Amino acid sequence: MIRKANIKDVKQIHKLINYFAAKDLMIARSLNELYENIRDFWVYEEKSKVVGCAALHVVGWQELAEIKSLAVEKRRQRKGIGKSLVLKCLEEASTLAVKKVFCLTYLPEFFMRFGFKKIDKSKLPHKVWIECCNCPKFPDCKEIALVKEI
Ligand SMILES: CC(C)(COP(=O)(O)OP(=O)(O)OC[C@H]1O[C@@H](n2cnc3c(N)ncnc32)[C@H](O)[C@@H]1OP(=O)(O)O)[C@@H](O)C(=O)NCCC(=O)NCCS
Repeated sequence: MIRKANIKDVKQIHKLINYFAAKDLMIARSLNELYENIRDFWVYEEKSKVVGCAALHVVGWQELAEIKSLAVEKRRQRKGIGKSLVLKCLEEASTLAVKKVFCLTYLPEFFMRFGFKKIDKSKLPHKVWIECCNCPKFPDCKEIALVKEI
C-alpha cells in the first residue's frame, strides 16, 4: 500500500536509503534531513514495514519539483513498487500545479520509462547546485539530470 510518510517511518526510510547509499547507488540522507522533509515522502508499506520510498520536493518558484530518494528494498524489487512510487510523485506534482519534475539519477533508463528526458545539468536552477556543492561527490558526480513536463 502506498501512503504519505509520517515521522514514525523516518528510521525505516533512513535505513532503506542508506543501504543503497553505502553501495554508491544513491545519495545518503541524514535522520535530521528526513525528519525535516518528511512531508515530501511517500512510502510503500507491506505488513507494517516500509519496503519502498520516494520524495517529491518543490524547488524554488519556477513551478519545478524534484523526485528524490527513490528506493525499494532489494528483495522487493522488480514488482512494480518503484513504478508506483514514481507515478504517485508525478500525480502529486500535478495536484500541486508543478509544471516540470526533474531527477538526478544513476539510472536514467528507469526514469525514461516514465517520459523523463535527459537535460544538461547546468539547466537546473541555482538552488539545486547549492545542494550539489555540499555533496561529498561534487564535482565528480556521475548523476544524470532528467526532466518531465507535467
Ligand atoms: C530503481 C528502483 C527504485 C526500481 O524499483 P523497482 O520496484 O524494482 O522497479 P519496478 O519493479 O517498479 O520497475 C518498473 C519498470 O522499470 C524497470 N526497471 C526496474 N529497475 C530498472 C533499472 N535499474 N533500470 C532500468 N529499468 C528498470 C522494470 O523492469 C519495470 O519495467 P516494466 O514496467 O516494463 O515491467 C530500485 O531498483 C532501487 O531501489 N534501486 C536501488 C536504489 C536506486 O538506485 N535508486 C534510484 C536512485 S535515483
